[in-house]
Amino acid sequence: MSYKDQLNTNKIPQHVAIIMDGNGRWAEKQGEHRVFGHTKGVESVREALTAAGEIGVKYLTLYAFSTENWNRPKEEVDALMDLLVKTITMEVESLNENEVRLHVIGDLDSLPPGCKDALQKSIDDTKHNSRVNLILALSYSSKWEITRAIKNIVEDVQEGKLELENIGTETIDQYLNTANFPEPELLIRTSGERRISNFLLWQLAYSELYFTETLWPDFKKEHFFEAIYNYQQRERRFGKTSAQLLSNE
Ligand code: FPP
Repeated sequence: MSYKDQLNTNKIPQHVAIIMDGNGRWAEKQGEHRVFGHTKGVESVREALTAAGEIGVKYLTLYAFSTENWNRPKEEVDALMDLLVKTITMEVESLNENEVRLHVIGDLDSLPPGCKDALQKSIDDTKHNSRVNLILALSYSSKWEITRAIKNIVEDVQEGKLELENIGTETIDQYLNTANFPEPELLIRTSGERRISNFLLWQLAYSELYFTETLWPDFKKEHFFEAIYNYQQRERRFGKTSAQLLSNE
């Protein structure tokens, strides 16, 4: 029986985040250039997005390019930017057909102007959709996001728009790029690495972590369903005991 058929439809996570890793190794394993791996990785993006839509996951966040990725060879960075712009532009029709709304989190001002404009256009062209929210983390790092939030909070306190004593965890939520999204219940990382790599550090506080050896270009719908199935077998206690959870305390 497939993993999809075994899923508990009452326990589908609202938000799944993925660190798509292993494109380079996948390509190198077959004697190809790393960029070939990224190109193949686009197919896995499609697989994950379709799978999310099929079972009712409302938010899918993909770590597509980290702040640290700017340090890769220029040739690879340029190829990745090119691939992103082409994919996002070409897929708009399909995103609309499938009622997918595109969002981007990250330091968009650091992207090449052509890339930023193309992204903005696709964001605008899909803003009426609400079935699935696809959130691309681009030129993103959690430490960058938190630093930016702190600066904005301090500025608002100085300008009298925010009272120091009113600052709570919800305030921080509101100043992050993810202000309008629920926290991910599940984080998936492919390729056997077991790190968070500066991704959603605040938002993942209580998320379940799922690591798989599968390299991102090999990641298919069934791998996504397997991760959800694995998540559904876990008990999420949020600091409480099992007994408390059972008695609904
Ligand atoms: C990690 O593999 C992957 C990336 C840094 C880029 C991910 C980009 C894509 C899948 C293509 C475009 C995406 C969208 C959303 C259109 P790696 O290069 O770190 O692999 P390695 O660890 O094997 O070197």
